[in-house]
Amino acid sequence: MKKKVEIDWKNLGFDYMKTDQRYLSYWKSGNWDKGVLTEDNVLHLGEASPCLHYGQQCFEGLKAYRTKNGDIQLFRVNQNAKRLQDSCRRLLMPEIPEETFIKACSDVVKANEAYLPPYGTGGSLYIRPMVIGVGNSIAVKPASEFLFTVFCMPVGAYFKGGMTPVNFMISAYDRAACYGTGQQKVGGNYAASLIAHKIAVKKGFADCIYLDPTTHTKIEEVGAANFFGITKNNHFVTPKSSSILPSITKYSLLYLAENVLGLKTSEKDVYIDELDEFSEAGACGTAAVITPIGGIEYKNKLHVFFSETEVGPITTKLYDTLTAIQLGDIEGPEGWITKL
Ligand code: PLP
Ligand code: COI
Repeated sequence: MKKKVEIDWKNLGFDYMKTDQRYLSYWKSGNWDKGVLTEDNVLHLGEASPCLHYGQQCFEGLKAYRTKNGDIQLFRVNQNAKRLQDSCRRLLMPEIPEETFIKACSDVVKANEAYLPPYGTGGSLYIRPMVIGVGNSIAVKPASEFLFTVFCMPVGAYFKGGMTPVNFMISAYDRAACYGTGQQKVGGNYAASLIAHKIAVKKGFADCIYLDPTTHTKIEEVGAANFFGITKNNHFVTPKSSSILPSITKYSLLYLAENVLGLKTSEKDVYIDELDEFSEAGACGTAAVITPIGGIEYKNKLHVFFSETEVGPITTKLYDTLTAIQLGDIEGPEGWITKL
C-alpha cells in the first residue's frame, strides 16, 4: 500500500520538513561515487571542512509537480543541472554530470512521493540539491573532498499570500559584487543578504530590492527572486546585470511573454528613478513563482505599480501560463518538462 502522510496541503508555507529519503554522493580522488538514498538527514562533516569556513558550497532549487492525471513532473531540471555546474566551476568544485543530477532529483522525488502535494492544492515538492567542500583543510584553498546531496520537502507560497501583491523596500546593502559571485547560486550571496532582509521585514515589507553594486541606480534582484516589469505599452522588461542570478523562471517568462502573449521583451538596465514607465511589476523565481509587486519604497516614498491589492492583467496571464505548464494542464515548449 502507498504511504500516506497527514499534511495540511493547502496551508503549506516554505519551511523545512524532513522527508523520508535523500540522495548522497561523495567525491574523493577525482571521482564521484555512485551515490545512495539514505534516511539519515544529518551530514557528518570534518570540523575543518572548507564549506563551513570559506563558503565553498553551492546549491539549486527546483520543483516537482503532481499533474491532474496523477503523473509527476519536473520543470526545466536540465537548466538547474547546468547552473549548478556553472556554480561548481566558479568555486573550483567538481561538476555533477547532468544525467547524475537529473537521476538524483528524480530518485529523491520518487522516494518521497507521499510528500508531493496533490494537484489543485497550490503546493509542490521543492528539491534542494547542493555541493559542499568537505574534508579537513584549514588553509584557504579548495577542499580535497566533496559531497553532493539532494533533499526535498513539500512547499506552498514563499511570500505570504502567493499571487497577491506585496511591497518591497530598497536595500542599502549589496548582496553580490559586480565581478563577484552574483551570477552563481552560492551560499555567500545569501549570507550577505540576511541583514537587508531582516531590516525590510522589520519595517513591514515582504523583502528588499537590491540595486546594482557599482552605481546603486539600477534594480538587480528582488530578495531571492528576479525582477520584471510590464511597461505602459506592454513590453516585458527585466534587468540585465553581471551580478544577478540567471533565473530559470525569468528566462521562461521571457519566452512565454514573447511567444505566447506576443509581447516585446528586453533584458536591459532598469533605473530605480524610472519606475513610472511600468504599469505592473513582479518578482519571479522557483520559490516565489510570480509574486506581484504592489509597491517599492525608495527615498521614503512608496511607488505603487498596478495596485497594492489587485494583480495586473499581464502578470495574471504570465502566472496562469507558467503554472499551467508546470502542472501539466498545457504543454510547454520542448524540453521544459521531465516526466518521472
Ligand atoms: N535570484 C535569486 C537570488 C535566487 O535565489 C533565485 C532562486 O533560485 C532566483 C533569483 C530565481 O531563480 P530561479 O527562477 O532559477 O529559481
Ligand atoms: C529558489 O527559488 O529556488 C530559491 O533558491 C530561493 C530561496 C529559497 C533561496
